[in-house]
Amino acid sequence: MTEARQRLTDLLGGYRRTALVHLAAELSIADHLAGRAATSAELAETVGARPEALHQVLRALAGIGVLRHTGDDRFALTEVGELLRSTAPGSMHGAAVYFGALSYRAYTGLLDAVRHGGVAFERVFGTGYYDHLDQHPRLAGYYHQMIALPRGTGAVLAGLFDFTAYHTIVDVGGGNGSLLAELISLLPHAKGVVYELALSAPSVAEVLSEWELGDRCVFVPGDFRESVPPGGDVYLLSRVLANWADADAVRILANCRAAMLPGARLVIFEMVMPSPVTEGAFPVEGDLNALAHFGGAVRSRAEFDRILTAAGFGLRSLTPVGPGVPWSLIECEVRA
Ligand SMILES: C[S@@+](CC[C@H](N)C(=O)[O-])C[C@H]1O[C@@H](n2cnc3c(N)ncnc32)[C@H](O)[C@@H]1O
Repeated sequence: MTEARQRLTDLLGGYRRTALVHLAAELSIADHLAGRAATSAELAETVGARPEALHQVLRALAGIGVLRHTGDDRFALTEVGELLRSTAPGSMHGAAVYFGALSYRAYTGLLDAVRHGGVAFERVFGTGYYDHLDQHPRLAGYYHQMIALPRGTGAVLAGLFDFTAYHTIVDVGGGNGSLLAELISLLPHAKGVVYELALSAPSVAEVLSEWELGDRCVFVPGDFRESVPPGGDVYLLSRVLANWADADAVRILANCRAAMLPGARLVIFEMVMPSPVTEGAFPVEGDLNALAHFGGAVRSRAEFDRILTAAGFGLRSLTPVGPGVPWSLIECEVRA
């Protein structure tokens, strides 16, 4: 087989890997193999599956390096498989369920969406992404675990923008609150508001209680397409706008602007599309995810300029975090 043919064959087989890992996560196979090797018959009884079929699945998982098939016909976790244990440090169990149950299926609607319009996710699920999460609290919890930025990102933000002169930071669409909590912990004078959909309440409550910031960091439920809480000195939009097509993105920005008093600042933390793109460029993957799930896009600098102008802002500066990190900080000014 030529190298190109082999490469395309590998690309075509991606569906199998996603489906297998998802199946393993849904059956909690890694939890049942924690600290021991087991036969497929033993596992089948524990997880409630057909032994013959499960045996084939376990062999396939060994074939992709998630499990190890031992000489006595047992299966054990590899280092990769360990990450699927629900209580492993840095567990990716939730991500595996999430990708298999949502993203994998959403992408099957992409062809029709590209041909005929609409959003791939909505074509497949018959509802919007966040409405679906609202109806499936387990997936909403996994979603927040999965998308949360790594600890240390708050310090990166504080290195790119001087928050010290500002007292109240409103994180608009603040996810599970971990980014804002880290930022507030670094700014002893400051208070924070995590403004989020009501469906995010359990995830935010869990994170804020871990950070023990008391009333220095609070959760306010709401919909940023309707309004944004007033009274902030800094409004942060971290990784929100890519999930929305231009009309909604402008509406969210305009709602921030309406909430801002003179002197307040808007800071955007997002991926910015490079041009030309290179193979493996992270923003391209983010862009396609935004398209498939939301009909959104990762924008170029010129595209940010356009939506900011439409919402009454100017793009003051755009600072990439640095090599190997796909995010940039965009500082905006209110235009008269
Ligand atoms: C990609 S996440 C970014 C989370 C966080 N800002 C970060 O950077 O980690 C987008 C967030 O927007 C929130 N969101 C979506 N629609 C919203 C709405 N209409 N009003 C408020 N928040 C919303 C989601 O719940 C989600 O947490």
